[in-house]
Amino acid sequence: MNLILAIIQPTKLGAVKEALVKLGIQGMTVTGAKGFGRQKGRPMAFLGLLNMEGKPFTVDFVPKVRIEIVVNDEMTDAVVDTIVRTARTDTVGDGKLFVIPVSRAVRIRTGEEDEVALTIEEPATLSEAFS
Ligand SMILES: Nc1ncnc2c1ncn2[C@@H]1O[C@H](COP(=O)(O)OP(=O)(O)OP(=O)(O)O)[C@@H](O)[C@H]1O
Ligand SMILES: [Mg+2]
Repeated sequence: MNLILAIIQPTKLGAVKEALVKLGIQGMTVTGAKGFGRQKGRPMAFLGLLNMEGKPFTVDFVPKVRIEIVVNDEMTDAVVDTIVRTARTDTVGDGKLFVIPVSRAVRIRTGEEDEVALTIEEPATLSEAFS
């Protein structure tokens, strides 16, 4: 199992979610975030190291969205590829993605663990719930 932690442009959240649901992911967590990358929050900083007043540019935080998805090993590459493909605008600040090994997962309601805790619910159980 892996945690896929992606920091993306907020405008891309809807498209990324739709693509991941289509792929069959069973859950995700989304948080508002802010951060900076190598442009230090200033996409034009490459034009010079000093601002108009001759002082160094300050580092600014830029709004981003943080997505967390835990998936089994089998799904990991497909989820990574989908996020990268969908979140890309080919401009600076498109974001970063990290894959982090996860040692344990628990579905709190049932106590089910690991990959079982990440799988889709059996149709039988679902129909019981709605009968
Ligand atoms: N090394 C890092 N660790 C944690 N978060 C990061 C890291 N680098 C970037 N981020 C997060 O990702 C966001 C977007 O980063 P960004 O896409 O600007 O990275 P970059 O390395 O500057 O690439 P680019 O040149 O394409 O802009 C940042 O605002 C920050 O929230
Ligand atoms: Mg950047």
